[in-house]
Amino acid sequence: MAALTVILWILLNLSHTLAEDYDELQLIHGMENKISVLPDGSCKCQKELTKWDKLFVMLEDSQMKQSILQHTTDEVCKVELQSVRSEMRQLAANFAETCTSAMNTLTLHDMAQVGQKVAFALEEIRETKVEIMSEQKNILQQLLAVSQDLSNRLKTLEMAWQTSADMKDQRLSFDIKKRVPENLGTTVNSLATQLQQSKAELTRYQKWSDRHILPSGCDMALTFPMRSKKIFASVHPDDMTLSSFTACVWVKATSVLEKTIVFSYGTKRNPYQIQLYFNQSSAVLSVHSDTSKIVAQNVVSLGQWTYFCATWSAEDGNATLWVDGKLAAASSGVAVGHNIPSGGLLQLGQEKNGCCTGGDFDKNLSFSGKLTGFNIWDRVISKNEIQSLASKDDSCSIRGNVVGWSVTEILPHGGAEFIYN
Ligand SMILES: *[C@@H]1O[C@H](CO)[C@@H](O)[C@H](O)[C@H]1NC(C)=O
Ligand SMILES: *[C@@H]1O[C@H](CO)[C@@H](O)[C@H](O)[C@H]1NC(C)=O
Ligand SMILES: *[C@@H]1O[C@H](CO)[C@@H](O)[C@H](O)[C@H]1NC(C)=O
Repeated sequence: MAALTVILWILLNLSHTLAEDYDELQLIHGMENKISVLPDGSCKCQKELTKWDKLFVMLEDSQMKQSILQHTTDEVCKVELQSVRSEMRQLAANFAETCTSAMNTLTLHDMAQVGQKVAFALEEIRETKVEIMSEQKNILQQLLAVSQDLSNRLKTLEMAWQTSADMKDQRLSFDIKKRVPENLGTTVNSLATQLQQSKAELTRYQKWSDRHILPSGCDMALTFPMRSKKIFASVHPDDMTLSSFTACVWVKATSVLEKTIVFSYGTKRNPYQIQLYFNQSSAVLSVHSDTSKIVAQNVVSLGQWTYFCATWSAEDGNATLWVDGKLAAASSGVAVGHNIPSGGLLQLGQEKNGCCTGGDFDKNLSFSGKLTGFNIWDRVISKNEIQSLASKDDSCSIRGNVVGWSVTEILPHGGAEFIYN
């Protein structure tokens, strides 16, 4: 440090000296401006030269001083630098030494510490490891225990499930056993319901067919839509001369009064040759007179096809009424010995009794409903024949020899008309 101070002192001195020299130089410069140099380069005056001489001397002096200074400075600097260098070297050496030793001591200490720490850590790790190991062991043991417990519980559960399943099966079978009769019951009930429904449908169908379908394979019928004096049908057989007869007809009456004519045969002389009529629910057959008659009671069912057969024979006056193949009324002595003449009017649903002026018909006697299978034989047919006719199988295919259904001419009048199946 002393060397540096020396250098600084020298430099300060030098700069001062230089500054003095500079002032002198400035002075010289000002003088120089006043110096006039001739074109040939020769000076005009002698005085000026001395000044230059002075200058040169000064310059020489300053230069010398400078060189001396430089030399000394160099020397000082050299010395100083060397000392600095050496100092630095020493410092460096010192530092290095200190540092190294410090480092060494530090490292060693640290190393020892680190070693200790590492050892401690290792120990810790080992301990931890051991702990972990033991913990793992514990955990494993616990797991084992738990798994064993679980397996035991599972076994129990399995057993319980099996038992419950068995019980369920039993219960199921029991339930099935319990259900079967129920199901049977419901089945029976549903069947019964179905049966009832079927029955109802059948009844409906029967009603419908009763209304629409003709009996005993008949494919044609005469319909009398309402009670009217103009509504009837005329039948035109070839010959009506009869000493005995059988008349059969399918009747479905809509409504009946005290005398509702099914059919009538009358001549001008006697309009009551033959009459089959309904008196309310009774069927009446009269021959020759409205007083000579047989009555079958409670045989008329409105809206239902009913088969009526009437027989008469002049020999003993035997008369019978058959309803649906069954004898409903029989009597002897009806118009015994009477002969039914030809040339009269055979009518369905009306009678010609000459009641009314102008030959009109009585509306109250008119029939309303349907008729089919109207046949007349000139004999009394057998019970078997009547029964077979009434069996509804083929009564329309069997025809009477006086009037044959679908053969003998029948002319509807008024609103009466033929209907077909
Ligand atoms: C109808 O029957 C009633 C009683 O049954 C009888 O009084 C009446 O005379 C009968 N009428 C005819 C036309 O047969
Ligand atoms: C009439 O009826 C009676 C008794 O029912 C019977 O004995 C008689 O033979 C019948 N007459 C004829 C011709 O059928
Ligand atoms: C028809 O019967 C009704 C009552 O049912 C009666 O008032 C009327 O006079 C009868 N007509 C004839 C023409 O007899």
